Amino acid sequence: MPFTTKGKVASGLGEGRKYISLPIYYILLTEILGSNPFLGTLNIEMPASFRDVIRSCTPSQIKNVVMEGREFGGFYYWLGRIRKQRGSSWIKCLLVRPHKSRHSDNVIEVVAEVDLRRTLDLRDGDIVEVTFNCGEDSWC
Ligand code: CDP
Repeated sequence: MPFTTKGKVASGLGEGRKYISLPIYYILLTEILGSNPFLGTLNIEMPASFRDVIRSCTPSQIKNVVMEGREFGGFYYWLGRIRKQRGSSWIKCLLVRPHKSRHSDNVIEVVAEVDLRRTLDLRDGDIVEVTFNCGEDSWC
């Protein structure tokens, strides 16, 4: 059973773009998403911790790797979808929680092919709905 929650759009620390642009993450995320990701992550503040989501909805995981002495942090991820509350149509996305995140526990990062702020006309504070696919590698 997929898990759907509401969340609030928030600006981050400007780091999403930096990380997705690294070849290791760009290649991984392209493979998982099935298309080239927009360079950035849309931060969503959920009513609950990502740990609660994991308890009720099994994630997939990329583990940390060390390459030439440098550590690249892994991440939990779910295939999923996002839409502006009760409005627009759903957009395919990945819900990602990096192991080394500096965000508080209730923040999840959305990776999508499109610029979600522009496509869904989103501003900080807007409410969106996100659906997590649990423990399965297929789209909602
Ligand atoms: O982390 P922060 O919000 O500072 O930025 P970012 O991850 O570097 O992403 C750059 C901008 O693109 C931010 O405003 C994101 O919210 C936005 N974004 C988007 O609209 N759609 C995406 N698929 C990914 C990021």
